[in-house]
Amino acid sequence: MATASLAGKWNYPTSIRFGPGRLSELPDACRELGMQRPLLVTDAGLAKLPVVANAVALCKAAGLDIAVFSDVRPNPVEANVTAGVEAYRGGRCDGVIAFGGGSALDIGKAIGLMVGQSRPIWDFEDKEDWYTRVNVAGMAPVIAVPTTAGTGSEVGRCSVLTDQRDHTKKLIFHPRLLPAIVIDDPEVTVGLPPHITAAVGMDALSHNLEAYCAPAYHPMADGIALEGMRLIKEWLPVAVKDGSNIEARAHMMIASTMGATAFQKGLGAMHSLSHPCGANLDTHHGLTNGVVMPYVLAFNRPAIEDKLARLAAYLQLPQPSGNAVIEWVLELRKAIGIPHTLAELGVKPEHAARFSSMAEADPSTGSNPRPVAARDFEKLYRSAIEGRLP
Ligand SMILES: [Fe+2]
Repeated sequence: MATASLAGKWNYPTSIRFGPGRLSELPDACRELGMQRPLLVTDAGLAKLPVVANAVALCKAAGLDIAVFSDVRPNPVEANVTAGVEAYRGGRCDGVIAFGGGSALDIGKAIGLMVGQSRPIWDFEDKEDWYTRVNVAGMAPVIAVPTTAGTGSEVGRCSVLTDQRDHTKKLIFHPRLLPAIVIDDPEVTVGLPPHITAAVGMDALSHNLEAYCAPAYHPMADGIALEGMRLIKEWLPVAVKDGSNIEARAHMMIASTMGATAFQKGLGAMHSLSHPCGANLDTHHGLTNGVVMPYVLAFNRPAIEDKLARLAAYLQLPQPSGNAVIEWVLELRKAIGIPHTLAELGVKPEHAARFSSMAEADPSTGSNPRPVAARDFEKLYRSAIEGRLP
């Protein structure tokens, strides 16, 4: 390896309070960041569940003047951020508790950013040095409490937002979008039904796997990703089968946080294929990644056979080979009920051409281990729609 490539600009994740029951430390975390009037941002479904009521009660009991904002849709859009900024200002809030799955976490982070900006949010897209346009002093402090184990957005420096003008998912980036404090409490994931546990678990796997396969030099990310995948191999089927198994929930939660820590290195074509499906058809992000995973692995295999062999050895698969990794993914998907085709998610052959140019332009495409153009994406879409694994 040439010396020049042994270089990188790396960040490490944030302050994480990990473990069952740690949600009780939410008021303490608010105080640590100087919050008296936090805005808890969550989605409408979660807002009705006891877990949110508990968090609110905890904060109230500690004397915090907490407000709740829950106008967050799956595959969120700019209007969700705008409404949240209004709620923040209306409540004279002084910080954000982003509480939920990927959508709520991303919107909470985006609200924390936008309360202090005068430019439109699209001016902060993850392009060149656009993040330097941010008025950092205006940003609100953010605490993240993930309630699914998949997205890892609690340790991410981006918010993913669907741009309704062109129906693409865009990344809003700033290093300070990384929440100041994360509370990783596996007990809050106990109520997730098996099919959601499976789908978000596949998102966590896709993050670790795509980060590990991405070509940049980042041994720290690679090490984290390998162990993240081992945890998923051992514990995702257990968490799907028995949602009340706290040990399984804990290992899945850290594997999710690890996935997003690792993907500072980059993602790849699984996410490129998945994003247009989510932005246009509202397919579930993790589920879509899980469906496309073996097709992308098979496509990338010529470029990553050595890496996959090392992964297979670490996972103690029957053979140290790329084929063994693909076989394992297929078995895992079957065991936890992930469909084999995109057709089962409502993606049709007529979508393939239009989505393929969106996939090519997706920010994840640049770090795929094999160069991948629109025509390759079209073939991948068609294979995944029809269930034809090369
Ligand atoms: Fe993802």
